[in-house]
Amino acid sequence: DQATKNGYPHFMLKEIFEQPKALRETINRMVHEDNIGFENILSREELEKINKVYIVACGTAYHAGLQGKYALNKISKLEANVEVASEFRYNDPFIDERTLAIFVSQSGETLDTLEAMKEAKSKGAMTIAITNVVGSSISREAHKVIYTMAGPEIAVASTKAYTTQMIILYLLAIYIGKNRNTLSKKDLNHYLNIINEIPNKIEQELKNKEEILTISKLLVDKNNGFYIGRGLDYQTALEGSLKMKEITYIHTEAFPSGELKHGSIALIENGTPVIVLATQKELIDKSISNIKELKARGAFVITIGFDNENLRAVSDKFIPVENIDNIFSGFISIIPLQLLAYYTSIGKNIDVDKPRNLAKSVTVE
Ligand code: G6P
Repeated sequence: DQATKNGYPHFMLKEIFEQPKALRETINRMVHEDNIGFENILSREELEKINKVYIVACGTAYHAGLQGKYALNKISKLEANVEVASEFRYNDPFIDERTLAIFVSQSGETLDTLEAMKEAKSKGAMTIAITNVVGSSISREAHKVIYTMAGPEIAVASTKAYTTQMIILYLLAIYIGKNRNTLSKKDLNHYLNIINEIPNKIEQELKNKEEILTISKLLVDKNNGFYIGRGLDYQTALEGSLKMKEITYIHTEAFPSGELKHGSIALIENGTPVIVLATQKELIDKSISNIKELKARGAFVITIGFDNENLRAVSDKFIPVENIDNIFSGFISIIPLQLLAYYTSIGKNIDVDKPRNLAKSVTVE
């Protein structure tokens, strides 16, 4: 057991630290100069036909899908929708032969995701699976498969599968933008340069682990907390909150920052921890006023953002993250959130790799 943990005390920590390598391998396999190797996944003809994308998944893979939707909208300028797999069939999704339906699943065995794929196929959609497990049920059912190169993920709380799913969705968005001519040559090169830098930036981010361990000690005695963010930061907040719930049993919820005042702010008491994601540069002033609102009601604010003295000044704790183009910040800001959940779980003496009531893959509806 120890041997496969490679010297790490837990699989989760090992898998968090494997992210730079897993991402590098995924990128190196798919990107060659300005070419992204998806010609066998989506031909030019198929790309011309598509007018809409659905991304369908559960849990952490669903959160990767939210980031993917953002990338498809922003980078390839293609309408994208994301649905939780277990709800997909009840929503009468508008799917036909011009729909590209992408199913994201680490295990490739989640029954809700598999059933949603069958439904989309029956309506004529072209289906792509993004999965980590070769030969899994979802990979066999899909028209096309893209494998994440994450290596086996053992810890129940998903980390490296999430970021590798995200990188594939981003690469797909860039590939689609390039081949539908909605992405300029200049932006293509700019985005691919950023993609290539992501593994190094994550490596830098992982060096802050001691600081995050220290902050985690302030959370172990809390019963509840909140995560807030705007735009892409809200999507990252959802995944950060899920990580915390899964392995620390602290009740946390994520809200869009602007929605907080429409009800949920009533829950803020003296000392309630609020983790604020503030990586979207043009939204910093709005985040600062949200932080002031929260502080005035007694919240203990931990902010994650690019280094900014005004943000630092209003926060109780500030975790600076590596600077990156707004559109890609979800790859960087999730790292301190994974570590924060991990160290809080350790501080509470919880079996972090096998938290109660959860299974690595869920094969019942
Ligand atoms: C379970 C796991 C989660 C995972 C979800 C989807 O609930 O505990 O970590 O995100 O299933 O799993 P999949 O294998 O489809 O990505």
